[in-house]
Amino acid sequence: MNVYDGQRLAALLEKRGMAPATDVADADVILLNTCAVRAKATDKVYSALGRIRRVKKPDALMGIVGCVARESGGDAFRRVPDLNFVLGPQSYHKIIDILDNPDTKLLNIDMGGLEKFDALPPMTKSPLVAYIPVQEGCNHCCTYCIVPYTRGREISRAPIDVMRDVKTAVDGGAIEICFLGQNVNGYNYIDENGVTHRLSELIRETAKIDAVKRIRFTSSYPTEMTDDLIDMFRLEPKLLPFLNMPIQSGSPDVLTRMNRPSDANQYIDIVTRLRAARPDIQISSDFIVGFPGETDTDFDQTMAIAKHIGYINSYCFKYSPRPHTAAATMPNQIPDQIKAVRLAKLDGLLNEIQRTFNESCRDKIFDCLFEGPDKTGRHLVYRTPFMQQTIVVREQNGHTPPMARIRITDANKASLRGEFVD
Ligand code: 5AD
Ligand code: SF4
Repeated sequence: MNVYDGQRLAALLEKRGMAPATDVADADVILLNTCAVRAKATDKVYSALGRIRRVKKPDALMGIVGCVARESGGDAFRRVPDLNFVLGPQSYHKIIDILDNPDTKLLNIDMGGLEKFDALPPMTKSPLVAYIPVQEGCNHCCTYCIVPYTRGREISRAPIDVMRDVKTAVDGGAIEICFLGQNVNGYNYIDENGVTHRLSELIRETAKIDAVKRIRFTSSYPTEMTDDLIDMFRLEPKLLPFLNMPIQSGSPDVLTRMNRPSDANQYIDIVTRLRAARPDIQISSDFIVGFPGETDTDFDQTMAIAKHIGYINSYCFKYSPRPHTAAATMPNQIPDQIKAVRLAKLDGLLNEIQRTFNESCRDKIFDCLFEGPDKTGRHLVYRTPFMQQTIVVREQNGHTPPMARIRITDANKASLRGEFVD
């Protein structure tokens, strides 16, 4: 979502005749697009601001947008007095106001609903992967999560607006569509005739567009994985066989305190139905370790479910107490050393599962999407249908097809190596 917001902000500034600066010391406008999900992310913003203010031009406009802006509000100006603007995730389009009135200070952390989408100029050029938000905000008040506060309550965009964005992206060069939402499979739009529109319908409509080769969506809430959506994995070959559906913990007790669905069998049943619909589907998850009150037994249950489902491409985090959340004041907060030990253990297991899956891909051929050159410029990076990074040696003729059939020749924990088949 932040990548999307960043692209839209860049487009907005470019429309005003601005161009990206190569060095922060040359920039006329400096904005940090921020994440507040863990304290470390927020802290990084403030230390970056400290560094930037020492090197920036004296009259450069400097501000923060996104979730840290919403989290800090006016306090951000007290912490960093030379900030010029603080704009929340639903009001960043107001950046125009500070460009028009650079001598003022601008604070806007309003929950503007869908207003920003109408205010943003259409993107005429698109990367190969277009991020299309279908809903914003979240109604699942997980007790650790600041998102319902920073991004607000769930609100779904009208299908006609979503499909217009899809078509604009395709006309601009996109061949993969990634539908976005904090709770993307909760997408639920009731039109003026009382008809309910679901994510499955957006996938079906998008799959009809010839130029679209791949479709995915992120992030999904387990119990909102309805049959119509599961069926899409059976019916729409363009929908990638890869799903991010975080479980967070394997312990029913911890899940209850997280205010998340706590029945492991229910989660396992959803995965079973997904695999029946699409036998090669792979699932990824996010995990939190060291949630208040998490015992060794609770943690062992997390290890067990990670192994049982065989998650690929997953992330785990140490629990981080956040303002505006219920878990921050729960008793039995876990010391950092214990969190660190559990994180290392779970990370080790997830890496092992990932390595085993990557190795199982050797000699297979996948249709892959071009992502860009690697850092050395000598290789090309592609993404398999399971979103694994695949490195291919750049050919002499400079050939970089947007989609390519690639045979996997080697694999390690983090990435694959491959060669063009044709
Ligand atoms: N502490 C640690 N991790 C968190 N996440 C969300 N809130 C917190 C928190 N307070 C993680 C969840 C979520 C991912 C985006 O970030 O695992 O799925
Ligand atoms: Fe946060 Fe995701 Fe839970 Fe919503 S479902 S409150 S975004 S962790």
